[in-house]
Amino acid sequence: MSLSAHMKSVLMAAIWAPSGDNGQPWAVRPLSTDSFEVDLTRIARNSYNLLPIPDWVSLGMFLENGRLMAEKIGYDLSYEVMDAQRVRVTLSLAADTTANVNALLPFIESRSVNRYAYKTGAMTQGFKDDLHAQLDDDVEIFWYESFKERLSIARLMMRATDLRLRMDQTYSIHKELIDWSGADSMDKLPMGSIGLTPPSLKMMKWVLDDQARCKRIMKLPAATLMTQIELDLLPGLLCAGHYVMAFNPEKTPKPQMADYLRAGHSMQRFWLRLTQQGYAMQPWYVAFMFSLYMRRNIAFTARKKQAQRIHDHLVDDVLGPKNISLEHVFFTGRIGVPKKVNIARSIRKPLDCFLVEE
Ligand SMILES: Cc1cc2nc3c(=O)[nH]c(=O)nc-3n(C[C@H](O)[C@H](O)[C@H](O)COP(=O)(O)O)c2cc1C
Repeated sequence: MSLSAHMKSVLMAAIWAPSGDNGQPWAVRPLSTDSFEVDLTRIARNSYNLLPIPDWVSLGMFLENGRLMAEKIGYDLSYEVMDAQRVRVTLSLAADTTANVNALLPFIESRSVNRYAYKTGAMTQGFKDDLHAQLDDDVEIFWYESFKERLSIARLMMRATDLRLRMDQTYSIHKELIDWSGADSMDKLPMGSIGLTPPSLKMMKWVLDDQARCKRIMKLPAATLMTQIELDLLPGLLCAGHYVMAFNPEKTPKPQMADYLRAGHSMQRFWLRLTQQGYAMQPWYVAFMFSLYMRRNIAFTARKKQAQRIHDHLVDDVLGPKNISLEHVFFTGRIGVPKKVNIARSIRKPLDCFLVEE
């Protein structure tokens, strides 16, 4: 079954959605020229996605990109959730076939995570209101802009980095994750995008080259300190602010897959809009996922005390003061005008790589 040219252009936009570790977890099974199923069953589970939430949000972002492109070519993109891992997507001629080019569309490919320092200047209320306007009605955004708040979140990110670097389960993930070629990367994170200085990158490569060496070094008390400073402390402080995005518990008491897909739509518009305004964004998802595992009693590390401290820090010091419930959070990140631009970035695999047969 081959897809129509229109559907292919929709997919070409969709695949530029962000995904955890640039995993691009979308298997696309064509059903007719103008419909396909996205199948999430082939996703390999690892310590960062033991729950499907990041994949659902990412699929929502994929669908939002597709929707923006469909709108441009005079089509409607609709979808139906078949089960927790399958969504059936259909393209149909829009009632109003006049092309409608959304102002966010040109930013689908240029939007890219920036893991370096941003300017610290305050965001205006108008800017924040404008970002808020991209979100669905049941989505709330909470800002953390003061030095004290940024420091608290930077410390939370440091805690998460220390744990993930020392966990046995993550060695092979980290080893496979980084593309050391120096170029943009189709299926990994290019070394120049991860936020480390050249000496630290060199050190990280050396440590990851040998599992036994990595294990030995990760037992040292200060083994993760430089990485924490470069990946978390400095970027966590050097930004305009952090945010937590969550469902309003009164409007969406028990979020399901369809809600997380909608959240992905909101999130993608939010990220495209801030890109359009010259801002950059970096998610900090690990502390959030680890905390959810703790809350739901999902075993993911033998370092339970460390994991509990991450959960308590996020819940008591970050979410608590703003009365946010952990179970309703779906995205977290930092925002600002980047100081360093034109850095290496993750790109995408060719469209054919996503197409699967029955
Ligand atoms: C659900 C989700 C979670 C993510 N978590 C993180 C994170 O914790 N830290 C980070 O630096 N980037 C994170 N990212 C960004 C991805 O690594 C990034 O989008 C992907 O590598 C593709 O790169 P690009 O956005 O530059 O195109 C996350 C993205 C998604 C969709």
